Amino acid sequence: MDNFKESPEKPVLQSKTLSFLSKKTHNTLLQQKAASIWKYHMTNKRKLDSRVTLEDLILASNRVSAVIESVRGTMLAPDARKRPPSFTTNQVAAICGLEKAQMDYRIKKGELPVGNMESGFRRRFSLEETRTWAQTERHKYMRPKDAEAITIAIANFKGGVTKTTTAVTLAQGLSLRGHKVLVIDTDPQGSMTTLFGLLPDVDVTDEQTILSLCYGSELSIDYAITPTYWSGIDIVPANLALYSAEFALPSRQKSESNFEFWNVLNHGIDTARTIYDVIILDTSPSLSYLTINALLASDGLIMPLPPSTLDFTSSGQFWNLFNDLAANLVTNRGKSKSFDFVDVLLARVDSNDASSSVVREWITAGYANMVLPVEIPKTALTASASAEFGTVYDTDPSTINARTYRRAFDAYERVVELVEEQILTAWKRQRGEQHGA
Ligand SMILES: Nc1ncnc2c1ncn2[C@@H]1O[C@H](COP(=O)(O)OP(=O)(O)OP(=O)(O)O)[C@@H](O)[C@H]1O
Ligand SMILES: [Mg+2]
Repeated sequence: MDNFKESPEKPVLQSKTLSFLSKKTHNTLLQQKAASIWKYHMTNKRKLDSRVTLEDLILASNRVSAVIESVRGTMLAPDARKRPPSFTTNQVAAICGLEKAQMDYRIKKGELPVGNMESGFRRRFSLEETRTWAQTERHKYMRPKDAEAITIAIANFKGGVTKTTTAVTLAQGLSLRGHKVLVIDTDPQGSMTTLFGLLPDVDVTDEQTILSLCYGSELSIDYAITPTYWSGIDIVPANLALYSAEFALPSRQKSESNFEFWNVLNHGIDTARTIYDVIILDTSPSLSYLTINALLASDGLIMPLPPSTLDFTSSGQFWNLFNDLAANLVTNRGKSKSFDFVDVLLARVDSNDASSSVVREWITAGYANMVLPVEIPKTALTASASAEFGTVYDTDPSTINARTYRRAFDAYERVVELVEEQILTAWKRQRGEQHGA
């Protein structure tokens, strides 16, 4: 990353130099640099004429990139790669629905991975081992051979309602239960890509995104599937270039006969549907061409919705707009679109906010049985900067308030459980259709 060129008297962040230092020194230096920039900023009065040119914005953007890369370097040091968690015997037993004694018995039989002995007496299982346990012990919950992946879009055109957090957490929770998950980032912001430890600007090429699919140079997303640090989850990442899909899709619609811009992703994941158990699509905060593709490719929809008045009212507009679009695109052509499930997930619920309980009632009155019987609490867990690079499944409970962690973790586990139940029903429906029921 380039050091940025500014007037010599201003302090600058030199992330290239910083990234070679040890984590601690790196952190300290970064903080000192940031502090000196802040002091400079506070002590130098803004000029009366403080117009901003495009060059200024580019400089600012370079600075932001430098900071992000430095910060990632410190958080994910030593090799700037995310690491998956490992699990205790009790955790593996809980995932598999086993008593500790049953688990010990199976370990003795030696048919399943035995983990690593920690300090001579405690076992620790890798993520991969834990998934092997889950697949064996939870075989009744696994995808039947003649069924296809269930595709779930996480959508709401309001920004910041925890779509990406929900998408990643759900993927992690389902994979821990033994399922093989593909996540597809359809948001050019690339937040989901970032949560999987890849920086959209730095680590992702345009060819690794769904862009080639949108341009028509590829017909299946297979070319873009990339493994992640989390065994059992692959990703099709995103970067900013994905914005051009918003021009490519309508322009192909005009120039290609029989082209259906809304079905590009739907057809593009046909092969993936036979390989994965669940496909999760993160969408951008807009009803863009890509979001429409995600919605129409999905069997299930999850709409995270914080109980605030503005979020609630905009959610109603979202469905209106989507219904209009779906009616024009699909229904008017004699086809119909239905979902196996649509879930409204009460997200970031602040138990101290009196108004949220009123809005919660409106949400239940409006969405009735679509509202999942669980609430994701607003938590300070994600308020720590490093936690922004991960979810409750990545966070080491010993580093944070245990009660806060437990509440958030249990709520997400319940969501995963409820969604898994709906996935099982959708598989049953698929098999019923295949056998002419
Ligand atoms: N339970 C929670 N409590 C408090 N903050 C949360 C919680 N879940 C997520 N957040 C924070 O809320 C912010 C928005 O979350 P997220 O990026 O998942 O939303 P989003 O809907 O995907 O946003 P966008 O519309 O920009 O794509 C993030 O800073 C995230 O860390
Ligand atoms: Mg997002």
